[in-house]
Amino acid sequence: MVDREMDGMGIKKVACIGAGLIGQGWATVFSSKGYEVILQDLTDAILSRSLKKIGSNLLFLEANRFLRKGEARASLKRIKTSTSIAEAVRDADYVQESVLDNYAEKEKVFREMDAEAPDRAILASSSSGLMMTRIQKVTKKPGRCLLVHPCLPVHLIPLVEIVGGRETSSETVGAVYEWMRGLGKVPVILNQEVPGYIVNRLTAALVREAIDLVDKGIATPGDIDKAFCFGIGLRDPVIGPFLRMHLAGNGIEQFFKNYSESYRYRWETMETWTSIPDSASEKVIEGVREMEIVRTKAFEEIVSWRDQMLVKILKLIERTG
Ligand SMILES: NC(=O)c1ccc[n+]([C@@H]2O[C@H](COP(=O)([O-])OP(=O)(O)OC[C@H]3O[C@@H](n4cnc5c(N)ncnc54)[C@H](O)[C@@H]3O)[C@@H](O)[C@H]2O)c1
Repeated sequence: MVDREMDGMGIKKVACIGAGLIGQGWATVFSSKGYEVILQDLTDAILSRSLKKIGSNLLFLEANRFLRKGEARASLKRIKTSTSIAEAVRDADYVQESVLDNYAEKEKVFREMDAEAPDRAILASSSSGLMMTRIQKVTKKPGRCLLVHPCLPVHLIPLVEIVGGRETSSETVGAVYEWMRGLGKVPVILNQEVPGYIVNRLTAALVREAIDLVDKGIATPGDIDKAFCFGIGLRDPVIGPFLRMHLAGNGIEQFFKNYSESYRYRWETMETWTSIPDSASEKVIEGVREMEIVRTKAFEEIVSWRDQMLVKILKLIERTG
């Protein structure tokens, strides 16, 4: 539970707009930290499916001792639902929007959230790469609007990227940064907007190269995933790209001296396309379907296996600091 005295923003009620994969994750986080949540989506059927998923997320957190016994049930009880944005945000102190990732939808929803939410409420978007400067233009109080981009699964991965638009106030950014820390998240503030922020830009570079290696017939999706998980990926929970360069070069200055030429050869032979070639997507689809885990396990089983493995990594990092 969050200590109310520590919650300097006075947040008591949170609204989650959009109850898909990401909205469910946020509702899991907020309710498990003691906040009253209103979860909103287009239909009662979607909301009831979503509540089921949140219930199982909370039980998973309890089973893995992120929550104490009985807290999963108590957290779920803190969540109410609504199919109306106006009703959901009416008393909210913080609103987290997680609807479809396109400007038309975000603008429509932000316009309504801004009109219906109390003046004190902060309006955050989960967008994976859109610009807040454009979205906040439809609001009357753009200073309180910002991007708070989580990573999937939201209830397990600590990182959130905080990105303000041109009109976002520094108070909003600072307050959300502190609040996210209080929720147990690891927030990073970007100094400038850029499509995809940090996480999805790095992912986009990696994914393009992975797809191209398949397209050129250099390796299969299964072997590329293996190279990642038993190579780069094993180091990734501990060191990022910059510490990796520092260690690989026996010092960052030496890294630039020793590796600039060989990196140049790699970059010169890399693709720079901005739309995935048809030939590549066909090969990737075929290759992913042939991966052993995809052939032998149902989609939900893979998701649950991923979450179990993530818990083991998180516990290890927590134990060793
Ligand atoms: N999936 C990811 O890995 C991921 C990660 C980080 C951020 N995001 C971002 O989070 C947002 C949501 O993504 P998602 O994966 O949860 O999508 P999703 O398709 O699972 O869920 C979107 C939900 O929004 C609802 N919705 C659509 N229009 C609505 C409206 N006008 N009012 C209320 N609800 C509406 C839909 O019914 C659906 O339940 C997107 O902006 C996405 O870019 C996604």
